[in-house]
Amino acid sequence: MALFTYEAKDLFQWLVDRTDMVVVDVRNDKDFNRFHVESPFPFPLLNVSYYDFMEREEEAVARVPRNRGIRIVCAKEGSARYVAEILERHGFDDVGYLAGGIKTWGNLLVPKLVAADHGYQLFQFIRPGKASCSYGLVSGKEMMLFDPSRNLDFYLDFAAAQGCMVIKTFETHLQADYIAGSREIARRTGAVFFANDGDFKTSQNPYTPLTDGAMHGFSLGGPMVRVLFTPGHTPGSTSYIIDERFLISGDMIFISSVGRPDLGGKAEEWAGMLYDSIQMVKQLDRRLLVLPGHYIDWEEANGDLVFVRSLGEVLERNRSIYEMADLAAFIAFIKENMRPQPEEYAVIRLVNANLRQEEEPRQEELDLGKNECAASAYAKKSEAQRV
Ligand SMILES: [Fe+2]
Repeated sequence: MALFTYEAKDLFQWLVDRTDMVVVDVRNDKDFNRFHVESPFPFPLLNVSYYDFMEREEEAVARVPRNRGIRIVCAKEGSARYVAEILERHGFDDVGYLAGGIKTWGNLLVPKLVAADHGYQLFQFIRPGKASCSYGLVSGKEMMLFDPSRNLDFYLDFAAAQGCMVIKTFETHLQADYIAGSREIARRTGAVFFANDGDFKTSQNPYTPLTDGAMHGFSLGGPMVRVLFTPGHTPGSTSYIIDERFLISGDMIFISSVGRPDLGGKAEEWAGMLYDSIQMVKQLDRRLLVLPGHYIDWEEANGDLVFVRSLGEVLERNRSIYEMADLAAFIAFIKENMRPQPEEYAVIRLVNANLRQEEEPRQEELDLGKNECAASAYAKKSEAQRV
């Protein structure tokens, strides 16, 4: 079998199908440790840098298991091809390398249909490289988006495939961990860009301010979207209730944990807001289905690999957080779990506020890496079982 290239979506599908293969990441260990491929299921993942293949070829090759598919990943594509050629010379016959490098994995969006039973379709777009989710709501020939990433072509192609126009794009907050797509989508499609003054007032974005409790709809009926301010992760954090059935919770409610309130450098003040939002959320209908902005682990997904749980279940899973005795206990919990945020976050915020422009390659670089948005400082996990 000749060498071949594969795409990020192929890799995701193989991981989901539990294909017998080894993923070999040939970036250096620093880049690897910062960010690497994750899967819903355990899979063999090997990090051998391409320098090792260059300098100690025999030794490096000996570390790669034989008689299994080898799928190589690198930063840009070139070094993966280089290693693939070495392996081919050494008699490996099922060797593929990732076209476009790891950033294509970082940008991959996987659409999942959440609901289609009430005359509209609700999609979750999972971004495995960021452990985040954006959403699309389709009714008739119109689509609303929630927290789109900067992979604009994906959303525009998706809308076109549904025969839809994007009419509204909503942000749940000023994102710190990835470059948001709403401004660009609005510019390219004419969609209305909605955001909360609490986060966006000082931005240079052409947005329409949200009002707490306001209802947003489609031109020809269909489900209504109710705006629910849930400050805490940021002062302008906003959730959206769709058709009184689904709760798009941004970085407020996660399936595990809640959004951390310390990213703005005002941990106590924002923790107070978050505490109040938590009390309010506890009064909502527990049958609402929570659709979070992030996940920590694939273990949170259901059997269909969709990140959705009833609010009742989420409150139960995170009882220690939702049942904190008082604000002081909550602040103590936040402080115990505080940890530094990635340096890029300050820059990403400015880019999202349109207060700083970055060239495309720098945007790619800023946008890469798993989010750090949850309040609980879980030990860094890797589902990968090392070979
Ligand atoms: Fe986030």
